[in-house]
Amino acid sequence: MDSEAIRNFSIIAHIDHGKSTLADRFLLLTRAIEEREFREQVLDDMDLERERGITIKARAVALNYEKGGKCYLLNLIDTPGHVDFSYEVSRSLAACEGAVLVVDAVKGVEAQTVANAALALANNLRIVPVINKIDLPRARIDEVAEEMVHILGVNKKEIIPVSAKTGENVDKVLEAIVERVPAPEAAKDKEGPLRALIFDSLYDEYRGVIVYIRLFDGQVKEGDEIRIMKAGRIYQASELGKFTPKPVAVNSLAAGEVGYLIASIKSTEDVRVGDTITLKEAGEVEALAGYKEPLPMVYCGLYPVEPADFENLRSALARLKLNDSSFTYEPEVSGALGFGFRVGFLGLLHMEIVQERLERESSLELVKTAPNVTYEVLTRAGEVRRVESSAKLPETTEIAELREPLIRASMVIPARSIGALMRLSEERQGKFVSTEYLSESRVVLTYDLPLSGVIYDFYDKLKSATHGYGSMDYEFIGYQKSDLVRLDILVAGNKVDALSSIVHRSEAERRGKKLVKKLRAQISRHLFEIPIQAAIGSRIIARETIKPLAKHVTGKCYGGDITRKRKLWTKQRAGKKRLKMVGRVEIPQQAFLAVLGGE
Ligand code: GTP
Repeated sequence: MDSEAIRNFSIIAHIDHGKSTLADRFLLLTRAIEEREFREQVLDDMDLERERGITIKARAVALNYEKGGKCYLLNLIDTPGHVDFSYEVSRSLAACEGAVLVVDAVKGVEAQTVANAALALANNLRIVPVINKIDLPRARIDEVAEEMVHILGVNKKEIIPVSAKTGENVDKVLEAIVERVPAPEAAKDKEGPLRALIFDSLYDEYRGVIVYIRLFDGQVKEGDEIRIMKAGRIYQASELGKFTPKPVAVNSLAAGEVGYLIASIKSTEDVRVGDTITLKEAGEVEALAGYKEPLPMVYCGLYPVEPADFENLRSALARLKLNDSSFTYEPEVSGALGFGFRVGFLGLLHMEIVQERLERESSLELVKTAPNVTYEVLTRAGEVRRVESSAKLPETTEIAELREPLIRASMVIPARSIGALMRLSEERQGKFVSTEYLSESRVVLTYDLPLSGVIYDFYDKLKSATHGYGSMDYEFIGYQKSDLVRLDILVAGNKVDALSSIVHRSEAERRGKKLVKKLRAQISRHLFEIPIQAAIGSRIIARETIKPLAKHVTGKCYGGDITRKRKLWTKQRAGKKRLKMVGRVEIPQQAFLAVLGGE
């Protein structure tokens, strides 16, 4: 097809503003699907995504569209819909020339609207602004249009009000894409050496990895030997194809086009998003800009509830890794929880999704420890190390400097909630950056915060302080030196490694008090007194005491029905198995969970 007739575009929106519904409307209008197939969210094809209503992985479809007697090929590249995946979003956008920016007519501009629009502008995309859900009685089309003009700098006349639900005006959006979004420029250069951007991949049990690509230069044919540049791997392309939305094989793909490539690739680790594919014999080729290694920022321990399930957990993780190369895992032994894994994620949502998928796809019951961030340690010997659990922290005497990840959080909130959110941010050691008014009643509040301060319950607090009308997006801005200490927990004088954590010095006392209190409530009385202490080094900062049992305690041996008693005995036996001995003290597994389970 003539490259003048190609348009590559994405739809970007805050969660729930109607991106998937609009995409489905496009499919319907261009007859890529039939009315009966117009069920919810054809593009989000994973169960989990549908259930939670969020798009996690990017997908692509090609739409045939006719206008003024001319046929166009519209490649719609779907983007993941969450802050944890902003790198993936930026790579999907890099594969496009334009983006349809969707804003909900009731909710207005939200945090990810701003963040995604910024990514689109950074990639020099032409933005087609759309206000969706105009069928809703509470739609505030004018106000939302003002917000979009104000914060996103879009031209008010260009905004198209639509209802993805009823289909009203959706055809105008397709028209605007053809008229406003430029055709891929590089398509003129079909002769140059191949350069194709990997913007997504998918693991198929039978065919190996399916690589989603956008070609910028040259072409690739079936049977060509290809080179994945950063990974340094060579493969033979066994199949090339396009999406219509169903995949259809083609003999070749050329500059400007979007499609997929199959080459018996066994692991998604070789096909990182953002990498460039060229031909094996292409010689010197400059890789496309913007590639980044995925870097886990949040860690947690995952342990099987049944210790015998350890190997099952290992194979479940390996299977999942095939499809999602952005998380990492390594075996870990915890005195309290036994054998498990320390798993690294891009962010909190990523963590939740991975855990749910593991439980669902392998029917394993898992214990998740409280999340922590990755720290950087500058040792006295001048070496910089990344530390992802308190157990790996070197001795205090070896540490010259401790650093923690810092993020810039942009909160889009009602103006009346500013005070509450400033207090919350400052409580979490945040530094004020700016406030910007979207309108009289809505504000963008920006703070720089330690990531550790937002991974527990910051988002929940933001939601409740704004009665659900606030949203937040963040970006990692670097590591900063911070006054951090290791907080240890001692039970009857014995340090319990599994309960150590890294905290801000100013927070240590409050956290220590809370932890020992929680722990006291979980440990039953013994024949002797049990002190439970929180300590920094050798300094005790909090203490609770469990009093000894009185000498003659008789069991609860009053009558009752025998089956009930049996049940109780079995339960007690099962419970016993899960007791851990720390010195002479029995700690139920439940206690670790209560303490490790977060704030
Ligand atoms: P993510 O997949 O999380 O990014 O969400 P999304 O932006 O794709 O939103 P989705 O299309 O799933 O729509 C969110 C909700 O809004 C769904 O319940 C839709 O049915 C509803 N919705 C979408 N468009 C319209 C519309 O034009 N009018 C009305 N009334 N509801 C809509």
